[in-house]
Amino acid sequence: MRLTDCYNFHDFRRMAKQRLPGPIFDYIDGAADDEVTYRRNTAAFENCDLVPDVLKGVAEVDMSVTVMGQKLAMPVYCSPTALQRLFHHQGERAVAAAAAKYGTMFGVSSLGTISLEEARQISDGPQVYQFYFHKDRGLNHEMMARAKTAGVQAMMLTVDSITGGNRERDKRTGFAIPFKLNLAGMMQFAIKPSWAIGWMTHEAFRLPQLENHVKMDGGALSISRYFTEMLDPSMSWNDVAEMVQAWGGQFCLKGIMSVEDAKRAVEIGCTGIVLSNHGGRQLDGSRSAFDQLAEIVDAVGDRIDVMMDGGVQRGTHVLKALSLGAKAVGLGRYYLFPLAAAGQPGVERALETMRTEIERDMKLMGCTSVDQLTRRNLRFRS
Ligand code: LAC
Repeated sequence: MRLTDCYNFHDFRRMAKQRLPGPIFDYIDGAADDEVTYRRNTAAFENCDLVPDVLKGVAEVDMSVTVMGQKLAMPVYCSPTALQRLFHHQGERAVAAAAAKYGTMFGVSSLGTISLEEARQISDGPQVYQFYFHKDRGLNHEMMARAKTAGVQAMMLTVDSITGGNRERDKRTGFAIPFKLNLAGMMQFAIKPSWAIGWMTHEAFRLPQLENHVKMDGGALSISRYFTEMLDPSMSWNDVAEMVQAWGGQFCLKGIMSVEDAKRAVEIGCTGIVLSNHGGRQLDGSRSAFDQLAEIVDAVGDRIDVMMDGGVQRGTHVLKALSLGAKAVGLGRYYLFPLAAAGQPGVERALETMRTEIERDMKLMGCTSVDQLTRRNLRFRS
């Protein structure tokens, strides 16, 4: 399968599956428990229909949006995700460069495999730094200070991962970081040569955001153990309020789902929230962000930038979320499978595909700018 054969999410996913060792593919593709929420995230978009207007003169379409003080050329961004150099040796470098080319935002993760400073050098465009709140307060302080010094404008604190989700696919495969070459791992070199050559011929895997504080050589660490042992489950609104004050800039909480929490985020001075269930990877049975969006926009949409992620595979999904009042929509697996499949050209093809879909769909909806998408253009099926 070649990159030019990929026209949509499913094609990229299939190509990634061909190239990746099974445990790595399953880490990206998998979710918690029965993966109900993972499936529901995409299905949720199909409960409502778009109602287009016609004859509106749509030769020129402006897709840009402004979120958390940063202008994005299109209303989707690459959500911060972990371990990208494990998926393709270019990792975050490819994602940062592709996002810069398309004028959109990307995020560097606490579990990123290049440093946030390097990411800043690749792109001085819109960027967020994704933050996990560790038990080790020294690590938290260092990460904030580094992000400030590097010139990162927006902080994104993930609040739905204070303990590890039950990812049964990872349990079965033994997926852990650093990716250890046990016998099964060695086998992957024979059956997944293109991934294996990339892995072997590039610099060793690192976690530069954490390495001053976390000893990784003491054995492999599963993502679930990282969350459970290193992140602080006692994290409270007071802790977050202190961080927001200390940061003194754009600050957003990722993983807010209830109206009460959205209001509290406003009260403590956050400038953004991302409705998210972590791609179904944490609490299975959690509601989809899309289903929860209208309530939250109604409650806080005039005081804070409301974003959402989860299950977005099509331009029409993005238009539906924007019509309900989301300011921008995050992509996760949508760009990770292309990264795994083909590195930077893969991510670029995915962003190009999404950009083209959004532009076409806006024209078909009779909209020339994102603010023209409103609930008037949506009908929910009862
Ligand atoms: C995950 C974390 C690392 O979902 O974001 O695997």
